[in-house]
Formats: sequence, structure tokens, C-alpha cells
Amino acid sequence: MLSRISQFGARLLRENRAASYLPNSRSSYYRGQFSQHFAPAKNTLFSTTSNHDEDPQDKDKISVTFVNKDGTEQTISIPVGMSILEAAHENDIELEGACEGSLACSTCHVIVMDVKDYNKLEDPTDEENDMLDLAFGLTETSRLGCQVIAKPELDGMRVALPAATRNFAVDGFVPKPH
Ligand code: FES
Repeated sequence: MLSRISQFGARLLRENRAASYLPNSRSSYYRGQFSQHFAPAKNTLFSTTSNHDEDPQDKDKISVTFVNKDGTEQTISIPVGMSILEAAHENDIELEGACEGSLACSTCHVIVMDVKDYNKLEDPTDEENDMLDLAFGLTETSRLGCQVIAKPELDGMRVALPAATRNFAVDGFVPKPH
């Protein structure tokens, strides 16, 4: 009986000791794992040439200035991949977009102010050209805002909002009751 009790006691001691080592052995295990998996990346992920003050999200945005009908300007940040129509709506810029980008209106007409920026855009599709033909005040550098997608090369682009659109309600026309 005594030997059984002492055996049990010895086992308890062993387990207790093993348990007390666990956190240390675990942390050294994790340290090993960390250095094995992350240490080699130190030189590449944390390059000494990168600018640490730069917000990584800024690289994915471009700056576009909208020149309003009254000549006032509004510069906004647009995520790469977003249409300037969507960006205008998010920033309360008065660009109509009645068909919400389905190429069924011309109320998102914008005029790209610099021909160099205009030339960086993808060519308009036939559908866009058809709609542009209906746009009020069409110019050589007119585009539909829903078809102009932000990309890094367009950073700094300026677009003007035409003085009027074909959507009479937008232009302040109040229909008379029949
Ligand atoms: Fe209608 Fe652009 S929102 S064509």
C-alpha cells in the first residue's frame, strides 16, 4: 500500500513538473516556429528602402479633381478600379448617373480637361459612343463617368461637369401637370 502511494505521489510530481515546463517549452517552440517562418521574410517584408510614413492604402487610390458647373473645384481620392461616377456619388458631387452605369443614359457625361489624361483612357465602346452622341455639350474629350475607371496613370486627372445634361429634371426643369 505504501509503495502504491509513493508511486502515485511520484507520478503526480512528474506530471506537475512537466506541466510547469509546458509554457516555456511552448514559447520556445513558437519562437522557433516564428523565426523559421518569419525571420527569412525580414529582409523582404521590411525593406529598408520602403517609406514607412506612407499609408499603404494610398497606393491604391488616385486623386481626381472635379470642376463643378459654377467653376468651384473638388479634389477627391478614388480607389483604383472604381468608376469616377461611383466616386462622385460617394463624395456628394453633382454627377447624375440616372441609369447607374448601365449605359442607358448620358447624364454621367464628364469632360476630361487634359487631352493627355483622355488618351490614357480605354477607348469608348460603341455603346458608350452612342450614348455620348446624345450628351449635351459634347466635346472631343467627353466621356461617360460610369465608364471611366480609376487607374494609377490617371492620378491628378481633372474632369469638368458639363453645364447641363439631357436629363431635364436634373437641370431644374419642373414638368407641368397635364
Ligand atoms: Fe447612365 Fe453612365 S450612368 S450611362
